Amino acid sequence: MRYMNHEEVEILKTVVSGQQLWRGMGEESFTSQFEDEFAHYFGRNYVYAVNSGTSANEGVLAGCAVEPQDEVICSPCSFIASSLSVVALGAIPVFADVDPRTLLLTVEEIEKKITDRTKAIVVVHLFGQPMVMGPIVALARKHNLYLIEDCAQAYDAYCHGKKVGTFGDAACFSLQQSKHITTGEGGLIATDEPEIYQRAVLYSNCGMPWYRYCLEAPAPAPINDVPTRGHFTFGHNHRMSELQAAVGLIQLSKIDTFNQQRKKLVEIIKGELEGESGFKMAHIYPDTKPNYWSYPIRLTEDTELSATAVSRRCEGKANIVSFHAYNDVNYLEQVFQDMHSRRSTSLGIPLPEYVSYAPGNCPKAEKAAQKFFFLNVHHDVNPDFLRNTARAIREVVRNNR
Ligand SMILES: Cc1ncc(COP(=O)(O)O)c(C=O)c1O
Repeated sequence: MRYMNHEEVEILKTVVSGQQLWRGMGEESFTSQFEDEFAHYFGRNYVYAVNSGTSANEGVLAGCAVEPQDEVICSPCSFIASSLSVVALGAIPVFADVDPRTLLLTVEEIEKKITDRTKAIVVVHLFGQPMVMGPIVALARKHNLYLIEDCAQAYDAYCHGKKVGTFGDAACFSLQQSKHITTGEGGLIATDEPEIYQRAVLYSNCGMPWYRYCLEAPAPAPINDVPTRGHFTFGHNHRMSELQAAVGLIQLSKIDTFNQQRKKLVEIIKGELEGESGFKMAHIYPDTKPNYWSYPIRLTEDTELSATAVSRRCEGKANIVSFHAYNDVNYLEQVFQDMHSRRSTSLGIPLPEYVSYAPGNCPKAEKAAQKFFFLNVHHDVNPDFLRNTARAIREVVRNNR
């Protein structure tokens, strides 16, 4: 199965022959259609399509009224956009520690980080593993905090029988090439709250209130008889193009087929490694149903090798799928180390003295990351190569015991 096929090519030809390449201001566009189809698929009222998952992360924070100096609780274990987007808003990422079995945030660790300045919590359903949302929703409500679900890696994953992304106030998705569906680059913001949608649109559309869903927008007023264009707030141009949206429509129509293939690939990995000493398969919380973006595997404590050592020893083997040791402990990146030594964010916002990005800040995340690797189960992966990869990993670990 390939990323894209003739259906995507055909719809791109339609867009090109129509010569309408950006969404414009009206209702009629591929982008509007894609938003509607996604809202229907996902089960939320308002969707705004943007040009990347990172833009979706920023837009959703703006939607949740995150402002300079606010604190936002983040996971250290995610692609860096989940926390750098907070910096982009002028706010302060505060990292909470994770469950070492999954690299997912826990409600207990989140609670420890709440202060008077906390405005929002961003949870990440990493690798397509659903977090247990009930207690986290209750915590957010108790402290009157916005709850954002980063679903970049989690399409069609469930907790308590409900899709993840529908528990919090808003969710964001990525459509970058590796994701469950792709428009090359792209992202989506989804919410049931009109105000969140409106603020997200303003941030992503140069401050212009081009709302859909019959939401009322202010009209630009002239100043000293000079007409103004209607930029009401600060904002970027993060709009999705018609080319991306048209492809997104086709990809969305194939998502179930893609997901079935992902699930078959996961079974191949389990068939080779489940029950093998030295490994723990992905931990699944009760009452959750994952839909893996990549399949996470943990080396047990008694396995002396680190995940990096295992991946290095597999390097150069023929006909395997490349795989990675987990290397996304966000605050260990140079950008956060610089903020830590400067005691201010990249936008010059001072860090309160209790906010640390020093190594050791989230000890469970740092320790667990060394033992995690993840295998690509994208629907285009060659099943034989994936099987070879699992066998190669098994051999490396067996030879080291
Ligand atoms: C959890 C998570 N959040 C946000 C993003 C950002 O998405 P994008 O790469 O489309 O900007 C990614 C992308 O990998 C991700 O995995």
